[in-house]
Amino acid sequence: MTDVGAGVGAGGAEPARVDFRCDDPEVDPYRLLTATVVPRPIAWVGTVGADGAGNLAPHSFYSVACAKPPIVSFTSVGHKDTLRNVRATGEFVVNLATADLVRAVNDTSAPFDPEVDEAGATGLTLVPSTTVSVPRVARSPVALECTLHSLHELGDSVLVLGDVRLVSVHASALVDGHPSMAALRPLSRLGSDEWGWPPEVFHLSRPRSAEDTGTHAPRPTAPASARPDEEDGS
Ligand SMILES: Cc1cc2nc3c(=O)[nH]c(=O)nc-3n(C[C@H](O)[C@H](O)[C@H](O)COP(=O)(O)O)c2cc1C
Repeated sequence: MTDVGAGVGAGGAEPARVDFRCDDPEVDPYRLLTATVVPRPIAWVGTVGADGAGNLAPHSFYSVACAKPPIVSFTSVGHKDTLRNVRATGEFVVNLATADLVRAVNDTSAPFDPEVDEAGATGLTLVPSTTVSVPRVARSPVALECTLHSLHELGDSVLVLGDVRLVSVHASALVDGHPSMAALRPLSRLGSDEWGWPPEVFHLSRPRSAEDTGTHAPRPTAPASARPDEEDGS
């Protein structure tokens, strides 16, 4: 159990800082953001092209975008095969990138020719999905079956929003009917070529009133049954 400590956020002098202005030509905001917006979950995005060719590629600019209805987002930095396929078919599957699949996840980020199916090239088995025509990665414990909600052009990138139609989870990854972090063992992306192994997990209840905060708060050892709160990004 990690001791998350009392007194975090207490006063004191600010440590010395270095400010990087994003309009400074000497500054590389991309490298700074990818090193500081961390750790990022990795969407292993499966798509199928208009010609029927499959495609699979990791995307760490990935998040839940809306709670109700359930919408996820990922960003294509540049115009890649994944984006082209989503535009063409309006479907994609987000497979969870897990620790035991790290080599395959990384290999599928290689610049394969558009007609090459990365899953086949890296020896992965695909199985049919339920609500979309894009197959899922058999060994990935979670697949989010998505239909295109909208595309948003942002400078050199395109934000892809997808309505989640179905969440498919390996039965072995469920504890009391809920996905278990210990079973999922998700990877994360950090800066440059750094990756994160599954995180150390601790439980800490959210304060339900001002009295629950700061020095009034109970020690941060919530019961093991505590679940992350839903639908408010916590
Ligand atoms: C862990 C990891 C995360 C990545 N995240 C992104 C991302 O968020 N957006 C992106 O455009 N490329 C990302 N990439 C690079 C793409 O996976 C890579 O460009 C890939 O070749 C794209 O494949 P595609 O052309 O078949 O779509 C990432 C690569 C790795 C290894």
